[in-house]
Amino acid sequence: MVDTAKISIGAKSVELPILKGTAGPDVVDVRKLYAEADVFTYDPGFTSTASCESKITYIDGDAGILLHRGYPIDQLAEKSSFLEVCYLLLHGELPTAEQFTEFDHNITYHTMLHEQFDRFFAGFRRDAHPMAIMVGAVGALSAFYHDSTNIDDPQQRMISAHRMIAKMPTIAARAFKYSKGQPFVHPRNDESYAENFLRMCFSVPAEDWKPNPVLTRAMDRIFILHADHEQNASTSTVRLAGSSGANPFACIAAGIACLWGPSHGGANEEALNMLAEIGSVENIPEYVQGVKDRRYRLMGFGHRVYKNYDPRAKVMQATCHEVLAEVGNTDDPLLKVAMELEKIALNDPYFVERKLYPNVDFYSGITLRALGFPPEMFTVLFALARTVGWIAQWKEMVEDPSQKIGRPRQIYTGAAQRDYTSVDKRG
Ligand code: CMC
Repeated sequence: MVDTAKISIGAKSVELPILKGTAGPDVVDVRKLYAEADVFTYDPGFTSTASCESKITYIDGDAGILLHRGYPIDQLAEKSSFLEVCYLLLHGELPTAEQFTEFDHNITYHTMLHEQFDRFFAGFRRDAHPMAIMVGAVGALSAFYHDSTNIDDPQQRMISAHRMIAKMPTIAARAFKYSKGQPFVHPRNDESYAENFLRMCFSVPAEDWKPNPVLTRAMDRIFILHADHEQNASTSTVRLAGSSGANPFACIAAGIACLWGPSHGGANEEALNMLAEIGSVENIPEYVQGVKDRRYRLMGFGHRVYKNYDPRAKVMQATCHEVLAEVGNTDDPLLKVAMELEKIALNDPYFVERKLYPNVDFYSGITLRALGFPPEMFTVLFALARTVGWIAQWKEMVEDPSQKIGRPRQIYTGAAQRDYTSVDKRG
């Protein structure tokens, strides 16, 4: 028997089915509410609304759990690789050795960009924010790869997924090189995904560049930590854009634009700026007081879904220590500030009562800076890694037979109907 919820509006009473997922709260299915009761539901910010059914990622925010296709993020970060996680998100299962070899080959052999594509970069100012370049360049991919824009063809959907996962590091590295005034570095097929990306960012023709396995592993793990996060703002943007039948390159460009905001992917840059502003451990109590007086927020703290320690933040903290040790910067004053700030905040009733814990961005800025990236590249790296999540969610939506164009309703609070008046009769 299906559980139902009963809703009474005036004299009308409507029974609504209650849906159950594998985990998480039950969901009241309100689809027939308007037809039967002539009312809408109101939920700006979607705090109580499930916008879709998904099998990809599960978050239990109270328990601090993040699962991709059922696998905990800490196990994936420790034991897997970014490309294996990409396969898992796209296909639902971990690959066999043979499947992985084929997938790895497909990604590796799609990393090059069309030669004419490079002309796009020259059209941007040298001081353009790399996220602005990313939005434009990724949108432009659909002008180059027409043969994978038919969303009704499963083969083309998969090729477009491979192309985006493969080309995103090449585009991101070019955005970085362009801002530095250095020549573009082409991808190489004999290197891993993360190694290839670091080479394209940091090698120059004037000298040999040697990969560092510790830094490569850290980069790969940072990609894993950002690969997907269920129906967040940018993923919902990708789904909404895709619901009209738009091609996948255009949809991912929309996701990148949404990610750019400081409440979303831009928070890692803000967290690093905050640590720099605090400067040293002695200044922490005064800064914390300012947070409690609501003059500003503690960046890298708090989350809409996690009301516990963000499981990604734990892995990021360990990665941060590894990277700083490798680059010989264990005395980084910002790390000291971060660790002390975390200790103080986790024991302070203001933060404890509001369930405010470090999120993934608290330690990522320090780590990325130690890897050699300037703050304006932080969100670009997030976009690069999140591309697989966006494309997996987009594919799932396109393949869902119950999918409809996204079309929210509203409460209209504007003027009631009135007649047009000519200008001489106004005022
Ligand atoms: N510092 C101080 N107080 C905070 C913070 C914070 N970072 N976050 C929330 N609060 C307080 C807030 O003032 C409110 O207190 P009260 O109930 O007394 O008014 C309470 O906690 C609930 O806050 P909220 O704004 O209703 O919570 P939200 O779920 O809408 O906001 C958030 C989530 C992530 C926007 C917010 O925690 C925040 O602004 N954090 C800082 C920015 C940040 O680190 N963002 C990265 C998120 S993780 C990466 C990603 O997913 O993109």
